[in-house]
Amino acid sequence: MCGIIGYAGPREPVGVVSEALSRLEYRGYDSSGVAFFGREGSLTVVRASGKLSRLTEALQGTTGLPGTAIGHIRWATHGAPTEENAHPHRSGPIVLVHNGIIENEHALRQELIGEGVVFSSETDTEVLAHRIHRAFREEGNLPAAVRKGLAGVEGSYALAVLCEERPGQLVVLRKGAPLILGEAEGEYFAASDVPAFLKWTRRVMPLPPEVLATLSPEGLSLCRLGDGEPVPAVFEEVPWDPVQAEKGHYRHFMEKEIYEGPRAIIDTLEGRLAEENSRVILPELVRLGPNPTEIVFVACGTSYHAALLGRLMIESFSSISVRVEIASEFRYRPLRARKGAWVIGISQSGETADTLGALELARKEGYLTVGVTNVGGSSITRETEATLLTRAGPEIGVASTKAFVAQVTLVWLLALYFGRRESPEVRKSLAALVRSPTRLEAFLGSVDPNAVDRMARQVLEARFVIFIGRGIDYPLAIEGALKLKEITYRPADGYPGGELKHGPIALVESGVLVVAPLVDPLLRLKEISNIREIEARGGTVLTIGPAGDAIEPLPSFPLPASEGWDGVFLASAVLQLLAYRAASMAGNDVDQPRNLAKSVTVE
Ligand code: AGP
Repeated sequence: MCGIIGYAGPREPVGVVSEALSRLEYRGYDSSGVAFFGREGSLTVVRASGKLSRLTEALQGTTGLPGTAIGHIRWATHGAPTEENAHPHRSGPIVLVHNGIIENEHALRQELIGEGVVFSSETDTEVLAHRIHRAFREEGNLPAAVRKGLAGVEGSYALAVLCEERPGQLVVLRKGAPLILGEAEGEYFAASDVPAFLKWTRRVMPLPPEVLATLSPEGLSLCRLGDGEPVPAVFEEVPWDPVQAEKGHYRHFMEKEIYEGPRAIIDTLEGRLAEENSRVILPELVRLGPNPTEIVFVACGTSYHAALLGRLMIESFSSISVRVEIASEFRYRPLRARKGAWVIGISQSGETADTLGALELARKEGYLTVGVTNVGGSSITRETEATLLTRAGPEIGVASTKAFVAQVTLVWLLALYFGRRESPEVRKSLAALVRSPTRLEAFLGSVDPNAVDRMARQVLEARFVIFIGRGIDYPLAIEGALKLKEITYRPADGYPGGELKHGPIALVESGVLVVAPLVDPLLRLKEISNIREIEARGGTVLTIGPAGDAIEPLPSFPLPASEGWDGVFLASAVLQLLAYRAASMAGNDVDQPRNLAKSVTVE
């Protein structure tokens, strides 16, 4: 995901946009850029690869004419993180910044090349600049050119567009990616997130999807992208106290943390992708010597579920045998691992007594130990030979959400790290991982809360809820069951789909609800047969996954087609939102559910 900012007003624009970008830096950090009207009135673009500080250096002493400006901070999806691929992108008088993914970019690019357009970058964004430029030549009007240029474009976008021939006019719009307007006296802002302009105003308006806003120091107007019909502007004051400021516009920390999933992926990937995102580096592991002969994961709860996914991923790409152990069981058994094995403890808090105890046993038995944790300086970091930090940021809600997403990101990185770099499957998977934060953000932006609420009501009305899954859907199933149990207090359980006929299917009758994630393409047909067995016995099934082939019914909660394992992120977001909404409807204390603690520091 990337961060964009647009400004229209009397302030010096380079300073405003640069400061706003610094508040969006969490959204990406591999390149950045600004566009503003220089002293001589020309539309000037300045870009830099690398961290935002590189752009700040390049802008040293630069000022622009009051009026309009745009800025961008990038998390590369199409095209390497280079200056040529940095935003803003230009075509003739049109200059724009973009967050999102244009799904039909290739076809649009070929069409433009056929018309003689010469591209200067590998990005999908540049396609939009050329299309809007072509439309501007026909329309002579910037809002009309943007509307025309976007006709036929598929995918997600949040855009801010300037035109050298229309100084003082800034056009912004979104579909699938977030964009929020800010209004102050005689000035307007448009940004990917509120903190970008909170310094100047608390009056905000989330821009509705496919509504085009034209901002200028004189005012703003909104219209529907499709037919140009006017849309009213409705701003509201965000009255944030410190805790609320922490929660932003969310009711609970858990909800906010679900939506911070994309950020958790980006921050966990930071510094671990090299050679233009084509290679995984984990410097923390280098001093452990050669790769392990075996990996033993030890963890509890949600972290254990992430470890189960790690096993599937690592064994997909390397010959390393992986075991996954419940820490509280593991620590009281003899440790029979291969010589040269690594014991890897996964723990969000880094303080879970059982996980620490399991690692202590491993160390005593002479095994190398690694800690995967979200909390720097926690006990696990001091009691292992190496630490791999997930960077989800502080997770306040007891039910783990963004930390789980960060843990899955990290075990996916481990799979790629141990995998053969030249393998096409490894390269394809790495590309999918790099795109996953943008895809997860676009997906979260498209989720219909009413659809989630409908499922949540079914869950609350059910006598019992069973989660089933095979392959990568099995850890998702038991994670979904855990989320539901721990915050709704309703009975639920998760099983491997293949285990149903060995007993649990006896539970199935009318009133029993089955939830089935369907993101593992390899076992989907077998999962569909499990679903039919359940329906034949009067059970109701809710499926969560991408559409299958024609013979299959559409999933109850459709997901976009997966790229690699990013379906795990999408499906877990639905399972997290399902538990969250059901618990909210039940009136429970979502962030601090009964009987639980955020960190179980006792046995
Ligand atoms: C997850 O939602 C639960 N809060 C719980 O299962 C948790 O994952 C478990 O206690 C392990 O905690 P840790 O990751 O901090 O070790």
